[in-house]
Amino acid sequence: MGVFFDSLLVFILVIILSSATAAKVRHLKWEVEYMHWSPDDQEGVVIAINGQFPGPTIRARAGDTLHLHLTNKLHTEGVVIHWHGIRQIGTPWADGTASISQCAINPGEAFVYRFKVDRAGTYFYHGHYGMQRSAGLYGSLIVDVGEGEKEKFEYDGELSILLSDWWHKGSREQEVDLSSKPMRWIGEPQTLLINGRGQFNCSLAAHFSNSTAAPCKLRGNEQYAPYILKVHPNKTYRLRIASSTALASLNLAIGNHKMRVVEADGNYVKPFTADNIDVYSGDSYSVLFRTDQSPSHNYWLSATVRGREPHTPPALAILNYLPTSPSHLPTSPPPTSPRWDDYPSSKAFSHQILSLPGSPAPPKTPHRRLILLNTQTYINGYTKWSINNISLTLPTTPYLGSIKYNITNAFDAKSPPDRAPPGYNVMRPAPNPNSTYGSGVYVLEFNSTVDVVLQNANALKDNVSEIHPWHLHGHDFWVVGYGEGEFKEGDAAGFNLRDPPYRNTAVIFPYGWTAVRFVADNPGVWAFHCHIEPHLHLGMGVVFAEGVERVRGIPNEAIACGLTGKMLMRNGTR
Ligand code: C2O
Ligand code: CU
Repeated sequence: MGVFFDSLLVFILVIILSSATAAKVRHLKWEVEYMHWSPDDQEGVVIAINGQFPGPTIRARAGDTLHLHLTNKLHTEGVVIHWHGIRQIGTPWADGTASISQCAINPGEAFVYRFKVDRAGTYFYHGHYGMQRSAGLYGSLIVDVGEGEKEKFEYDGELSILLSDWWHKGSREQEVDLSSKPMRWIGEPQTLLINGRGQFNCSLAAHFSNSTAAPCKLRGNEQYAPYILKVHPNKTYRLRIASSTALASLNLAIGNHKMRVVEADGNYVKPFTADNIDVYSGDSYSVLFRTDQSPSHNYWLSATVRGREPHTPPALAILNYLPTSPSHLPTSPPPTSPRWDDYPSSKAFSHQILSLPGSPAPPKTPHRRLILLNTQTYINGYTKWSINNISLTLPTTPYLGSIKYNITNAFDAKSPPDRAPPGYNVMRPAPNPNSTYGSGVYVLEFNSTVDVVLQNANALKDNVSEIHPWHLHGHDFWVVGYGEGEFKEGDAAGFNLRDPPYRNTAVIFPYGWTAVRFVADNPGVWAFHCHIEPHLHLGMGVVFAEGVERVRGIPNEAIACGLTGKMLMRNGTR
């Protein structure tokens, strides 16, 4: 008896002590709604969360659980939100991908996202249904190290920016344009935004440029007034950067300041110093910089377009050295960044990103290797993007439910091919540019190691090959190699298995390939796709399924549509 009560007492004490520092459940209540807003000096309509654009920043500690009650107040369309970079270990139904992990949340309905943020890092969230990212449905998600833990670098203060791009044409109309025959391309964004702010008709740096843009006349309280990063002199700052652009690849620089890259996509990297950094859609970084410049001035932070001939002026924010007034514009011109088509400099930057010693290391050999050929194609005269000649179309029943409950005819039973037919010339437009629609999935053996080689190619037009940043849900992957031209099996011998960066987004350069390796150890169904929203909309993605039979606890609301909806009704559980 005595022993029993003693150990009970110890048990209770342990619970009380550990809950003092233990992870929290953070409750959030969100309403998603259209709102008039001026991200630049023209008024438009954005998808806002709780009346905010960009949406509220989520801040949590590693190990916390987010309990987020979301109500869809977009009267005429569904919505879902994806937590980009959060692996959703054990909660694949909370990944927020319409038709993959859940049904779109109907107008007027609510859904609870409940998941753990298991690792510190810089992340963001965004809509993952139609083109709602382009409509402004995004925000930052920052996870601090657990209580009592320390980062592997030091800093005195922290700043955070979310980059995006903005069109004056609404996202619904953009969708229609892209889906028309012939396709009407959406064109370059009108404005680049830093934390939701940009200028279109005027320039903050007009007096430095030979362009015709008029100087901005701002009071500072406009919705489109530049974002101000306030700093004290002689300190080290951590700047968190994430890009949720729909299209633009960016280059970021801080005038007169060097940056030291320390984190990429929630993982530590071997620190290196850079004058400017490339940020592709889906990327996140932390950089450190020292406020060692003259404190009586302010400085520019700029983001410029890479990889596409820019028709969009740079985005500018102000690094404000206190106590100097933020209205005191920088006295030097905005920093220069590499030319948009200076691919050697972009490649050099990507190749510099390596993991910090002590980071997770990749298994030495893969069980399976997929080679995914990225091509721009036609289907009955509609322009599409295809992977191994299949353009992804999502089914009406979310895969997670149809696979878990063995529902037949919910999607194409045939798996897409592991590679493109041999002899495809990636340097030239395809002789037969036609492809087909498909909704098949790659079923990965649970716990197996998978290599994916993303193979770029010439687009429909001669001498055009674009940048595509690919993002994987539910996992991080090791970026084990980059190469030019066509990938050959022998290239695998040169993979970097020593210190490849561990991340969730990797870019393929024009006419090149990029190889990633990951372990299929997270039961669920996961999207892997180009993070350029119009490209995904035109079919540029694939779906992986692994260990789905092990998935437990899918909430009924997540799958109450399509064939799983019917199943729930039959079972009387709805
Ligand atoms: Cu941030 Cu599937 O995307
Ligand atoms: Cu793309």
